[in-house]
Amino acid sequence: MALDTTQLEGLHIVRKIRETIRKWWNIELAYADATGFVVDHGKGVVVPPHNRICQSCLSGKEGFTRCNRSIEKAIVGLRGKDKVEARLLGPCHMGINVIAAPIVLDGEYQGSIFACGFLLEEDMATARPTVIDNARRMRLPVVDMDRAFDGIATLARRDFDYFKDLLETTVEEIVEFQSTVQQKERRIAELSRELGGRYQFGNIIGKSQAMQRLFALLSKLVESDSTVLVTGENGTGKELIARALHYNGPRKDRPFVAQNMSALNDNLLESELFGYMKGAFTGAARDKPGLFKSADGGTFFLDEIADCSMAMQVKLLRVLQEGTFLPVGSTKPEEVDVRIIAATNRDLRDMVQKKQFREDLYYRLNVLNIEVPSLRDRLDDIPILADFFLRAHAERTGRPLKRLMPELLASFFASRWPGNVRELENEIERLVVLSGDTELIGPELRSVGGHTVVVVEDRALAKFREKGDLASAVSALERDMIERGLVSCGWNKTKLAERLGVSRTTLIKKIKEFGIEERLGDGGDAA
Ligand SMILES: Nc1ncnc2c1ncn2[C@@H]1O[C@H](COP(=O)(O)OP(=O)(O)O)[C@@H](O)[C@H]1O
Ligand SMILES: [Mg+2]
Repeated sequence: MALDTTQLEGLHIVRKIRETIRKWWNIELAYADATGFVVDHGKGVVVPPHNRICQSCLSGKEGFTRCNRSIEKAIVGLRGKDKVEARLLGPCHMGINVIAAPIVLDGEYQGSIFACGFLLEEDMATARPTVIDNARRMRLPVVDMDRAFDGIATLARRDFDYFKDLLETTVEEIVEFQSTVQQKERRIAELSRELGGRYQFGNIIGKSQAMQRLFALLSKLVESDSTVLVTGENGTGKELIARALHYNGPRKDRPFVAQNMSALNDNLLESELFGYMKGAFTGAARDKPGLFKSADGGTFFLDEIADCSMAMQVKLLRVLQEGTFLPVGSTKPEEVDVRIIAATNRDLRDMVQKKQFREDLYYRLNVLNIEVPSLRDRLDDIPILADFFLRAHAERTGRPLKRLMPELLASFFASRWPGNVRELENEIERLVVLSGDTELIGPELRSVGGHTVVVVEDRALAKFREKGDLASAVSALERDMIERGLVSCGWNKTKLAERLGVSRTTLIKKIKEFGIEERLGDGGDAA
C-alpha cells in the first residue's frame, strides 16, 4: 500500500513535531516519495528553508532543478535501509546539509521525511567559503553573502541529536498510523467480501432470514441436475433464481433459454419450443430447430408453467420423462439433454386438485421446490435492495449515487408491495428520475399507489389490525391517546379533556377505568 500523504497532514503528532522543529531551529520538514520526488513540489507548493541563500536558489529555474536533484540523490540513497534512522546525507549542491529518515512499510521503501537548508555549528567555518563560492557561481541574486550565510539555521551537536530523535519519532508515528490504516482497510475489505458473499447469490440480493435460507438451499441445488419448481408471487425473483442456478452450476457454459408458457397460442408455442419440419404447415419453407434443441446441454426455464394447455402439458411431460420431443410435422423423436426449471405464481397443487393441471407433470416438475417469499414477508430486505437499485442506477447512468431520506425508506416499510421486488425496483427508478439533481430523495415524491403519508403504526394497535374486535381496538386507542395526552399536558385533565373533545368527568372516568396512574414526579393537577 502506498503512503497517503494527505492523511499524514492530518496526523496530529506529525503536525506537532513539524511545528516544534520549525519553532526551535527554523527548519522545515518535508516528504519525498520513494523516487526522491518532493511531494509538495508535485502539488505546486514550495516551502524553502528560511534563509536567503536557499530561498534565492529555489526561486530560479536552474536552482530549483538542482535543489530537487540533490534531494533526489540523497533520498534514493536510502533505499534498502529499513531501520528507522535519520541520516545526514552530506551537503547538497550548495554545500548545505540534507537529513532524511526512511519510511518503510511492510518491508517496502515508501519514501522519506527530510529536511534541508541547515548546518551543524561545528562545520560552519569550513562550510562558509564553499557555500558562498557556490552561491556566487550560481549567480544567486544575494547582495550580502556573508549575512545570508549567517542566516542559515545552525544546530549544535546536542541539538542535532534531539532533531534526529524527533525525525525518527515522526517516522515511527507515520509507520504506526499507516499500518493501523492498512489493518482497518484489510478488515473492511474482508468484511465487505464476507457480506457481499452473504447477502448476494448471483444477482439475487437478500439479507432477511428467509432469503438467507433460500441462498443456502440454492447453493445445494446448483450442482444437481434435478428439475426445480420455483413458486412465488410476481416480481419475487423467480427468473433470477433460475438464472442463478444455471450460471452457478456445471451447465453454465451452455445456453440458458427461457420461454413464457402464457405468451403464445398453442400452435406457435409448439413450433417455438420443438421446432418444425419443412412443409409441416403453410410457410414452413425449411426445417427449423426449436428452443429445446438450442438449449441442449444447458438449462430450459419454463416460465408461467401453470398457463400451459393440457395438450402442451403432455408434450412437456415427454421431455421430462424421456428427454425426447417431436418437432412439428415429424415422426422421429429428437433427444435433448436439458435441465428444466419451471416457475409459477399460482398454486399448482390446488390446480391439480381441480384437474386444471396434470398430476403426473406436477410431480415431475416438483422434484425440488423453491418457494420465494413475498417482499412484504421479508421487509428487512428493503434497505439493502433499495441500496442495490440506487447503486445499479448510478452505475448504469454514470450519475452520482443518490440516497433515500429515512422517512421515504419508512414509507417503503408501510407498503404492501403487490408487485414485490420488481415494484420496488421500478419505484426507485421513478424516484431517482423524478428527483432530478437532488441527491437526497425525500418522501414527497412517493407514488400514489404507495403511502405519501408515513404511517408509523402503533404497536398497541398493530395486533388488533389482523385479528381482534372493534371495541377492544377502540379502547386500546382511547387508552393510548389519554396516556400520551396526560404526559404532554402535564397531567392537566381540564386541558386534555378540552383537547380530546370530551367532558372532564368522562376523562376522569376513563382514566379510572383504564387504571392509568399518575406517576410520581409528574406534575400534579390542582383542579
Ligand atoms: N432478490 C432480488 N434481488 C435483486 N433484484 C431482484 C430480486 N428479486 C427480484 N429482483 C428484480 O425484480 C425483477 C423481477 O424479477 P423476476 O425474477 O423477473 O421475478 P418473477 O419472475 O418472480 O416475476 C428482476 O428483474 C430483478 O431486477
Ligand atoms: Mg417472471
